[in-house]
Amino acid sequence: MTLQIKHIALAKSAKLTLAAALAVAVFPIAQSQAPAAPAATATAAAPAPAVFKQAPLPYAFDALEPVIDKATMELHHGRHHKAQYDALNTIAAGNPDVAKMSIEQLLANVSKFPAGVRNNAGGAWNHDFFWQIMAPADKRGSPSAALLQRIVADFGSVDAMKTQFNTGGATRFGSGWVWLVVKDKKLVVASTPNQDNPLMDIAEVRGTPIIGNDVWEHAYYLKYQNRRGEYLANWWQVVNWNEVNKRFDEAMK
Ligand SMILES: [Fe+2]
Repeated sequence: MTLQIKHIALAKSAKLTLAAALAVAVFPIAQSQAPAAPAATATAAAPAPAVFKQAPLPYAFDALEPVIDKATMELHHGRHHKAQYDALNTIAAGNPDVAKMSIEQLLANVSKFPAGVRNNAGGAWNHDFFWQIMAPADKRGSPSAALLQRIVADFGSVDAMKTQFNTGGATRFGSGWVWLVVKDKKLVVASTPNQDNPLMDIAEVRGTPIIGNDVWEHAYYLKYQNRRGEYLANWWQVVNWNEVNKRFDEAMK
């Protein structure tokens, strides 16, 4: 700061400022020599960190073209999903019970928290999951023999499962999600409103999602406008079956 000072009068003023700054700098030392404050008071005074961190998209924003366009992916991950993480961190900053839990723990106990946790922990998890169960063309793979066997046992065929799933997504009024869920070692299709999901303790169908599609308009409107059915039908092209197979195996253990 003193390098910018050209006049003596200002230099005198700067000395005073420096003295004041030194006094402030010394103050914490004086404080540290005082008897320690009770631990509870120190904890309450500490600023809450942003405990929930949004991961980067695991592929390029245009990697799902032409099924999902680059602009939709940029807005979806960079604005909508980010806003849910930001809101969850704001809640956590004022609620230590939220800050100490993982997102999965929050979902499993979501009925005990305010609606903001349900919406934003739900949105944070749902989109993390959604990014992972889609992939660029060279990483999509195909359904495993074990998964195919389960699909045929529970739906009759893969096409029948997809039809039920797409119908669930198309008939979800307003905004929400449609899921393929492992429940009691079987596969079922379920849909949820808003940012709810089958991991929540309030879910109508509670289980482990292995596939899920976002039917909020923000997921498809730029490219498909009101044609949700077309989006749902095309979406199967970008499913990351390698990830779905892994999640199916885990859920069936
Ligand atoms: Fe979304």
